Amino acid sequence: MSKICKHPFNSIQIQNTGEVYCCCCYWTNFYSFGNIFEQSFDEIWNGEKAQKFREQFLKQEFKYCKLNECEPFLPDKDYKPSLVCEYPKQIEFSYDRRCNVRCIFCRNEINKEEEIYNREKEHKIEKNFDSIFTPILERAEIVELNSAGELFASKHSIEIVKKVIKINPNIKFKIISNGILFTKEIIEALDLKERMITVTISMHSATEKTYNKLVKHGNFKKLIENVKYLSQLKKQGFLQNLQLNFVVTSINYNEMIKFAHFAKKMEAKAFFINYHRQIDDNKLEKELDISLPTNKNYNKLIKILKNPIFNENYCYVNDYLKNLKPISQNFLNLFNIKGRVK
Ligand SMILES: C[S@@+](CC[C@H](N)C(=O)[O-])C[C@H]1O[C@@H](n2cnc3c(N)ncnc32)[C@H](O)[C@@H]1O
Ligand code: SF4
Ligand code: SF4
Repeated sequence: MSKICKHPFNSIQIQNTGEVYCCCCYWTNFYSFGNIFEQSFDEIWNGEKAQKFREQFLKQEFKYCKLNECEPFLPDKDYKPSLVCEYPKQIEFSYDRRCNVRCIFCRNEINKEEEIYNREKEHKIEKNFDSIFTPILERAEIVELNSAGELFASKHSIEIVKKVIKINPNIKFKIISNGILFTKEIIEALDLKERMITVTISMHSATEKTYNKLVKHGNFKKLIENVKYLSQLKKQGFLQNLQLNFVVTSINYNEMIKFAHFAKKMEAKAFFINYHRQIDDNKLEKELDISLPTNKNYNKLIKILKNPIFNENYCYVNDYLKNLKPISQNFLNLFNIKGRVK
């Protein structure tokens, strides 16, 4: 039981194609439970495909899951998973890739064709929203938005937030954002103040200089102002969890400790995650990927990670980074790497 994750029994992720996954479609190797435009939700949620997925899960096989990348949703002590489940408590809308900035490590560019394709799909979602989602959202407790792009940079995603609240005013939100447009004003306009349980802000830096190297067209001052407001909401008890994300690269690794101190001051959790390269053999990506043993700053990262601050309860370092092992200069020489490694 201890190894099981709650997602297949409790959550769904919806794509703009109508495909329904129980978790991040990428982490579950695109194992779809069904399509919301072709079947009723009851047929999907407890259908053959959903039960097959849960069955291998109950046997602790996890054959569709990328366990070294995902974030399992751990069950409470008395949680009893079964093949047939009650309606999901957590609904995630994560397909809208629009964004107001360009982080150098994120492939978020959208071409014209993709934009047109997405718009058509989104129209269908908007047009059918009430009929499809009312029965699901009425029974749900949490809605998550938007780990694909920037929620506050998209009219469509903001419209989803409004529609969700209209259907279920008691709903709580888990929001992930780059923080720039996540202002006091938008929180008030969307009436989100008392509806957010978890907010994750991706910052990746402790200084404006480093931030500007990583996030093109960003606004560090605005970001800090908004994080401070969210921190205030946390301190006042409106917000349960505030998490500040930091994707570790060769550009920002030496700000990890400073970032952890900042998170503590904000009463937030500092979340350190390894950078995932998108293309296997790309020179620039390899330079950015400090978790590669062949990266010239690799051993410096290992040294930083030994700092006791990362054992504090307000710091989380993902398993991938935790499991990195020091590498010898001889090994690096084999790869003909220039530069000194201490
Ligand atoms: C794609 S973003 C979407 C949400 C929002 N725009 C944001 O930046 O938080 C979701 C998360 O993925 C992270 N991310 C993007 N590209 C990544 C990469 N190549 N490796 C690891 N994490 C990445 C972002 O930093 C962010 O924390
Ligand atoms: S084990 Fe990982 S990939 Fe599988 S459902 Fe849970 S979080 Fe998703
Ligand atoms: S803000 Fe988020 S979605 Fe936008 S480019 Fe950065 S990581 Fe990607």
